[in-house]
Parts: sequence; structure tokens; C-alpha cells
Amino acid sequence: MSVTALRDPLLAGALEQIAREIDSMFDALLPVQGTLAEAMRHAAIGGGKRLRPLLLTATAAMHGVDRAQALRAAVAIEAVHAYSLVHDDLPCMDDDALRHGKPSTHKAFGEAMAVLAGDALQAFAFEVLSDPATSGDPFVRAELVQVLAAAAGAHGMVGGQVMDIEGEGQALDLPAITRMQMLKTGALLSAAVEMGAVLGKQPAEGRVHLKGYARDIGLAFQIADDLLDHAGDEGKAGKALRKDAEAGKQTFVALLGEDRARDQARMLTDQAIALLGSYGQEADLLRAVARYIVERDH
Ligand code: IPE
Ligand code: IPE
Ligand code: MG
Ligand code: MG
Ligand code: MG
Repeated sequence: MSVTALRDPLLAGALEQIAREIDSMFDALLPVQGTLAEAMRHAAIGGGKRLRPLLLTATAAMHGVDRAQALRAAVAIEAVHAYSLVHDDLPCMDDDALRHGKPSTHKAFGEAMAVLAGDALQAFAFEVLSDPATSGDPFVRAELVQVLAAAAGAHGMVGGQVMDIEGEGQALDLPAITRMQMLKTGALLSAAVEMGAVLGKQPAEGRVHLKGYARDIGLAFQIADDLLDHAGDEGKAGKALRKDAEAGKQTFVALLGEDRARDQARMLTDQAIALLGSYGQEADLLRAVARYIVERDH
């Protein structure tokens, strides 16, 4: 964890707590026996910053949502994220052997099982979300499913991954790269915030500033990921770095250079925090997350 993040006790405590809670939710809810179960657990348990669960539960807490229910929605979105990483690491995608400091799922279980574990993690997410234990209100459940499905699919994360793969070796311009990053990474981060607001029964008008915040941190987050690939420490990141340039990936760093990309990420963070201006202390955790996103070292 970055030094700056540790200096903020609110954020450090929240990161530590959510990591513990998400691990124990996955442990309780994922299938137990057989190779598929092992592969799903390998992908989902014991790794990752759990930023999407943190964003979801922090937004839910701002709106007085019961934590146990928020955690179910949080584990669902993290399952989609975990699946996206399993598939992202496959030889036919980014071909990465290391994830969360351990062998990526296809290295540990083979390609076929990794594809299937990813598929099953995605289905698991919607099974958890649509269960009455997540919300007693069927309208809330339906909206949670709708928001997560939209963020995960062709007009969300998967759509962004398509642009990432098709863009390899091409020269995308700033608007195209921005769109790709907003989809492949921003969509799920935004969904995390929105799902917290849905659980809190916030009407669409009440979500406008939160959505703006989420859009800005989503973009800042991917710029930070690309900066880490460019100049980060592999030991801390727990994944192979310095691969984007070689693969011809289209990133803000490739287009703008390191310094301007970093400025852009900081500008987006400031903008995100400004959008929370109408909230008081209850939004302090969201403010801290915005700062952490660009300062993190993994
Ligand atoms: C990595 O996301 C992949 C991107 C979407 C850029 P995270 O950095 O949130 O992944 P973990 O789960 O914390 O490792
Ligand atoms: C992945 O982006 C985004 C996903 C939707 C999984 P990257 O390919 O840059 O993520 P890392 O660097 O492998 O974690
Ligand atoms: Mg990728
Ligand atoms: Mg990758
Ligand atoms: Mg990356």
C-alpha cells in the first residue's frame, strides 16, 4: 500500500476491513468442491485492493444501507472484476503469467479451466445480486442487476477490452483512448458507486454528482494503472509490468508522455473531489479513495 494511503487512517482502516470482509464473503458463498471451485477461489480470494467493493460500500453507507446487504452487492461486482482479470490475463488477451503476486488462473489451472472459472464467476455475481438477501425490494434487485450487466457488457467493460485489443499497434487519438479507458475500467468503477446509490434508493437526480465523481476517478484509475505499467515496481504491483508499450497498447502514457499523463490523472482527481462539494463528512472516504487512486503503488 502506498505511504500516503497509510497516512490516512480512515482509508487504511477501510481498505483493510473491506479486504477481510470480501475474502470471507467469497469463502462463504463460492462453490467448495472440485477443480472449477478451486480455480474460482484462486481468482477471487486473497488478492486485489478491493476498490470496487470499497466504493460500493462507502456510497451505500452514505445512504444508510445495511452493511451486510451492501457487502453482497460488493462481492458480486468484485466477482465480475475477478472474472475480467482472469480473461484479461489469458494468452489470447494480454498473456500474463502473474496476478496478485501468484500465478494467473490459466497458469495454475490451464486455459480451459480459466475460461470456465471466469464464466462461472460472472454467473455467480448475478446469482448473488438477484437473491432476496441482497435487498428485500425486487425493484432494487432488478436495478442492481441492470446496472452491473450494463457496466460489464458490450457497452461497458467488455466493449472497452475490445477497443484495447483492436487498438494494439494502432494510433488512437485522445478521444478514442478516453472512451476505451472509460469503458474497460471506468464502467465497473462507476457501477460500484451507482449500485451503492441504488441500494440507498437514491433517485436518478440524486446520483448526478456521484456519477460524475465515478467517471472522473475511473479515468484517473486507468491512467494510474498505465503509469504503473510504465514506471512502477513489479514486486509491489504483483503483476508483470512494462508490457503495454511492447504490446502496442494505446494509453494516455503512450500518447501524452509520463508527466502529462500524471497531470491529467491529478486534474481528474481534483475534479472528482470537487463534484462531492455538496456532501459533508459522510463523503470523506470517497474523497480519500480519489486521492489514493492516483497515488497508489499497486
Ligand atoms: C486492474 O484493476 C485492472 C484494471 C481494471 C486496470 P485493479 O488495480 O483494481 O485490480 P486489483 O484487483 O486491485 O488487483
Ligand atoms: C484490464 O486492463 C482492464 C480489465 C477490464 C480487466 P489492463 O490489461 O491494463 O489491466 P492489468 O494491467 O493487466 O491489470
Ligand atoms: Mg488488458
Ligand atoms: Mg492486462
Ligand atoms: Mg495495465
